[in-house]
Amino acid sequence: MSSRFLTHEEAQAFYDRFGSKQDKQQWYEGPAVQDMVNHGEFEAAESVVELGCGTGAFAGELLQHHLPQTATYLGIDISSTMVELSRKRLEPFAGRAEIVLTDGARKIDLPDSSCDRFIANYVLDLLSPSDIRQVLDEAHRLLKPEGRLCVVNFTPGRTGVARIVTWVLDRVHRLRPSLLGGCRPLLLQDYRDQELWQVEYHHVVTAYEIPSEVMVASKRL
Ligand SMILES: C[S@@+](CC[C@H](N)C(=O)[O-])C[C@H]1O[C@@H](n2cnc3c(N)ncnc32)[C@H](O)[C@@H]1O
Repeated sequence: MSSRFLTHEEAQAFYDRFGSKQDKQQWYEGPAVQDMVNHGEFEAAESVVELGCGTGAFAGELLQHHLPQTATYLGIDISSTMVELSRKRLEPFAGRAEIVLTDGARKIDLPDSSCDRFIANYVLDLLSPSDIRQVLDEAHRLLKPEGRLCVVNFTPGRTGVARIVTWVLDRVHRLRPSLLGGCRPLLLQDYRDQELWQVEYHHVVTAYEIPSEVMVASKRL
């Protein structure tokens, strides 16, 4: 059975309904996101873009604890509920943080080589293969030569219970992707163009038998 991916409209409708429940996913997402932060060198980043920023919880953490006081943050999301939640959450960072609603188009309205970090946490795994490739191309265009792509996503488990859990999730996704918010276990290597990206850090973090792939990559020059 082949996979079907949520359309932009379906993703928007799902996350408009899901809203702040997204923050309850920390039990399995938190350790992998922390691992990405540990390797993302955020203390050296002045300009950050995040695709699929959700409720703005991660942005708040970054702005408060990891980025320089002068750094700016642009969050992009397809759900107006998420945009509203993150705008509210980031009010204390007015002037540094901006949230933009997208219709799912991949082009981001910023100049080439203008950002230090491009983040996508648990969003590539719900996009179609062609959208994933376009996002990675856009990240490559936006990042400065010394910038970093920072990605976290569900990934297939290789052993034991994690393998069974992700096999089941993959089957559920094939039957009804909306039951999982469109997310399915993904292998970044299937989408990463080796001529464009140099992997600086790659690790699989498993929390409660749910494996997440963490990748920090730089542009090949
Ligand atoms: C699983 S949630 C992850 C949210 C957040 N990054 C986190 O880790 O908590 C996926 C997010 O991506 C957003 N999203 C889905 N499709 C998108 C698209 N094509 N462009 C931008 N955002 C999208 C959803 O609205 C949602 O906020």
